[in-house]
Amino acid sequence: METLTTVDAVRRWRAESGTVGLVPTMGNLHAGHLALVAAARERCDRAIVSIFVNPLQFGPNEDLATYPRTFEGDKAALAHAGVDAIFAPSVDEMYPAGGTSLTTVRVAGITEMLCGSRRPGHFEGVATVVSKLLNIARPDVAFFGEKDYQQLAVIQRMAADLCMDVTIEGVPTVREDDGLALSSRNHYLDGNQRKEALAMSAALKDVVARLRAGQRDFRALEARGWSQLADAGFDPDYFEIRDADLVPATEQTGVFRVLAAGYLGRTRLIDNMGVDTRVAAAG
Ligand code: PAF
Repeated sequence: METLTTVDAVRRWRAESGTVGLVPTMGNLHAGHLALVAAARERCDRAIVSIFVNPLQFGPNEDLATYPRTFEGDKAALAHAGVDAIFAPSVDEMYPAGGTSLTTVRVAGITEMLCGSRRPGHFEGVATVVSKLLNIARPDVAFFGEKDYQQLAVIQRMAADLCMDVTIEGVPTVREDDGLALSSRNHYLDGNQRKEALAMSAALKDVVARLRAGQRDFRALEARGWSQLADAGFDPDYFEIRDADLVPATEQTGVFRVLAAGYLGRTRLIDNMGVDTRVAAAG
């Protein structure tokens, strides 16, 4: 496995033949990231994983300084997973012009709701760094977790709108046995919060089951999910029922996506689940 730190080195690596799968990450890798790597290895001839804690996507009061950086452990896990190359650039390599003369990528509409309205500038930072990574590595396929469903939707929209010659592929969320979605931010939870965190996947599962059973009082279902979070100790941010494109659900919606976000102490957790009720209706 090669460790590359410059844009030029990645371009030279990319120039060799065969298809390439890119897995963009901020490091602190867990089984969720390794599922993206497995998908990249299966789909493409060579897999490259970027590790870059992107300052542009953190707000002024967010955890950029404390975000867990575990490079040596990440490197060992990726070598073991059969990755061909890592791209681990410095901030200067990614943003040589510094913070003053940046060109940024803003995807309108879809970034102005859910996490976007709570974290101003976040998705602009994500879209900017991902478009740079795509331009640098020029992958055939780039892989993103469904755990960050809105992020996946934003990147798919960006790639389509900007005619990017890449397939953006979503990979299902990996969960602990008890249902908690894997996230680098789970490390911030103390023992008690770890137990409280289970309420998020449980509330999503409950609402998904109710949608599957035909309940369509969306406002009541959202209020129910919100209360389940609050009762467990969350300071809820949102609990919303949308369609697969993140448009608010209506009676006509067949494929739902239920999304939740909330704080346990200072840690913000997000999760989501999907349900295709057309299958049940047709059967
Ligand atoms: O999901 C993440 O880890 C980040 O948002 C990403 C896609 C690597 C961009 O920095």
